[in-house]
Amino acid sequence: MNAGIDDSAFLRIAAVTKDFGDFRAVDEVSLDVARGEIFALLGSSGCGKSTLLRILAGFETPSSGSVTLGRIDLARMPPYERPVNMMFQSYALFPHLTVWDNIAFGLRRDGLPKAEIASRVEDMLRLVQMPQFAKRKPHQLSGGQQQRVALARSLAKRPQLLLLDEPLGALDRKLREATQIELVNIIRDVGVTCVMVTHDQQEAMTMASRIAVMSEGRFLQVGSPVDVYESPTTRFVADFIGDVNLMDGVVNDHGDHGGHVDVRCADVVHRIAPGGGMRPGQLVTVAVRPEKIELRADRGNDATWGERDPINQVDQVNQVRGIVRALAYFGGYTMYHLELPSGAPLKVNVGNERRSRDGAPMHGDAVWARWLPGSQVVLTQ
Ligand SMILES: Nc1ncnc2c1ncn2[C@@H]1O[C@H](COP(=O)(O)OP(=O)(O)O)[C@@H](O)[C@H]1O
Ligand SMILES: [Mg+2]
Repeated sequence: MNAGIDDSAFLRIAAVTKDFGDFRAVDEVSLDVARGEIFALLGSSGCGKSTLLRILAGFETPSSGSVTLGRIDLARMPPYERPVNMMFQSYALFPHLTVWDNIAFGLRRDGLPKAEIASRVEDMLRLVQMPQFAKRKPHQLSGGQQQRVALARSLAKRPQLLLLDEPLGALDRKLREATQIELVNIIRDVGVTCVMVTHDQQEAMTMASRIAVMSEGRFLQVGSPVDVYESPTTRFVADFIGDVNLMDGVVNDHGDHGGHVDVRCADVVHRIAPGGGMRPGQLVTVAVRPEKIELRADRGNDATWGERDPINQVDQVNQVRGIVRALAYFGGYTMYHLELPSGAPLKVNVGNERRSRDGAPMHGDAVWARWLPGSQVVLTQ
């Protein structure tokens, strides 16, 4: 089947645009999803995630562009004929039907033979580890179990493409995290290609092998969770995924620091590996994640931080003095909010490896925050 189809472009979204009147909900989006991949569309409410998913499901027609799955042009196919199934959030199950009948529902509607239906339902119950719950009604199940039944029902028809729209939105945090991992394991077992929509970055990063960060109908960045977190290409993505410190600065024009470039910001000079097409005099934004920064009582005095920069006449290379203005204890780490000399804030996360907080900086303390070259990302847009 599908001989000759490139598995890395099993689902191909090509320049898809969707207009509602004069409002553009999806703006020229292109994407290849590999066979068997779990892909997440991530963005805040209203950015066009569900509209794009509904186009894949066939509930909306694109204003322009095309969607192909394997060799099939989906746009020419009515929703009920597509080898695609969509799972919505909590209201997915029929309350008056048992678990068994919920899973069998779509198969009966398609008129499959009784024996085939029974064998598929039993397979699905085993897959989601719920054979013992077959006779229960949805209200007799936990939220996580209901979600597993909903997934079993979506998979019973053996779709080639599974679509999940905010699948776990109704669950509380602990259960959501456990269910995310369960769903991923089941989807991987079946090997079905999956596109999911979420506004929850933690959910996208847990479940998906790649993520598209969306804003105003466009893809700002597509990459693995590590890519979008560690190598964001725009301020928006750096700021949207996780916590970040953003500092505006100018690329210094003397670039003879033995293989690095300096970016002068209000409170600190960032020493950075060259690259990324930085030009002397260019205005850039330097991003540093709070967990990449360490706090010390004193200035760093070794080769990385210590030598006074003879050209810039600064002794604040990759380090800066700040006053602790607030601290928030999160159990695994403490977030410090520092005030830098210019008045700008700096967030620093310090891991709590030990139980004792003896010697940890307190409210009002003066501290040095420092980071290694290579901890920063330079953003030009
Ligand atoms: N049928 C529609 N008619 C008009 N506008 C719509 C329609 N569906 C969605 N929109 C608009 O398109 C934008 C994107 O919606 P949606 O894709 O549901 O966002 P998301 O799922 O990312 O929250 C929103 O501003 C929404 O109001
Ligand atoms: Mg939505």
